[in-house]
Amino acid sequence: MNGYRCIACAKTQAADFAGFVCPSCGGNLDITYDYAAIREEIEQNFGFEAFLPVSRLDTPFPLRVGGTPLVGARRLAEIAGLRNVYLKDDTLNPSASTKDRASAVALRRAADIGADVVAVASTGNAGSSMACLAAATGQSAIVFVPESAPIAKLTQALSFGATVLAVRGNYDDAFDLCMAACDEFGWFNRSTGYNPFTREGKKTCAYEIWEDLGRRIPDRVVVPTGDGNLLSGMWKGWCDLKAAGLIDRLPRIDCVQSENSAAICHAVRRLREQSTTDPDWSKVAIDEVGATTVADSISVNRPRDGLAAVKAIIQSGGVATTITDEEILAAIPEIAQNTGVFAEPAAAASWAAVRQLAQLKKIDKDELVVCLISGSGLKDIENAATVAGKPSSVDLSLESVRDALAR
Ligand SMILES: Cc1ncc(COP(=O)(O)O)c(C=O)c1O
Ligand SMILES: [Zn+2]
Repeated sequence: MNGYRCIACAKTQAADFAGFVCPSCGGNLDITYDYAAIREEIEQNFGFEAFLPVSRLDTPFPLRVGGTPLVGARRLAEIAGLRNVYLKDDTLNPSASTKDRASAVALRRAADIGADVVAVASTGNAGSSMACLAAATGQSAIVFVPESAPIAKLTQALSFGATVLAVRGNYDDAFDLCMAACDEFGWFNRSTGYNPFTREGKKTCAYEIWEDLGRRIPDRVVVPTGDGNLLSGMWKGWCDLKAAGLIDRLPRIDCVQSENSAAICHAVRRLREQSTTDPDWSKVAIDEVGATTVADSISVNRPRDGLAAVKAIIQSGGVATTITDEEILAAIPEIAQNTGVFAEPAAAASWAAVRQLAQLKKIDKDELVVCLISGSGLKDIENAATVAGKPSSVDLSLESVRDALAR
């Protein structure tokens, strides 16, 4: 790590900069690296740790974060007439979502700078993730969540011993309150996007996909998107690999949002209508929406890493697509029954989008497609239950079993 660059105005800061956002314009910061040095390091001793902006990497993290399977999804692909679809099953992280990648890096950063208390605003997963990983490392976690967060996510955070503050408001309210509390009490703020280290954790997902594909580059990686941090992290991972000379081209990064929570998709559409691929990023506006979707993890009015995501979609040539809540819910049992992977609504959105794009002939049947499955179905049983069907009730007789099977 050799400094920071503002996503909006491109102004740089030195590596010892203590703030989280650009002092000139308030934009989010991107961590920069000396890629020549990284290249040298990995030539001597190959490993992706060289791309991480934290120390103590010689001590393994106490939980296994990342290293999740890439699952071939042949039968699922056939439904959409495709041949080459994989699921990156990030439900198999310690707290069952991709957020663990970000929490691990943010908690290491907090330790590096001697911060005792780490706070986060969350729709649910970032909070349960930070609670889980902080329990493992012995750090203190404070979690701001909307009080409507799914009970499983709240229960995870509580069980792991975090201080959980259920905010009477939505995610955006929780975000603002967490920010004010961090200012007041001096806590380290791990909130998504605002904290530049979260993107650095999420990017590790790209390295693993590349390795698991036998060092092939997919044609597209499809990412469920709320704040846009996961998507901008995914893009950064591939850009890192290219900057270090490990790959020579980049995949498209496709953005999926619920049609009722689509601030990033709207901004991309507007830019494309203007036929501009390299606008003055400091002037690109992302208008707030009034988000309502069953996919709570991607229900966001004001995306907190929106500009980085819009930039990643435009630069990668990715598609920004919206899907309905019905399509999201229908994707849950479809993925489960054809792959054995159980996705929460937000995570199922990636496959729902691929299905839709295939139908619209926007994906060629031979394209190598990776869908990120970013959170486990067990985190939101209530919504999964609405599309799972009902068990057949049977009496204690084989007759009754026969009847049930016939029904
Ligand atoms: C399961 C899941 N998928 C996708 C996302 C979207 O990530 P981002 O908000 O960074 O766009 C989240 C964020 O909470 C999530 O929990
Ligand atoms: Zn700036």
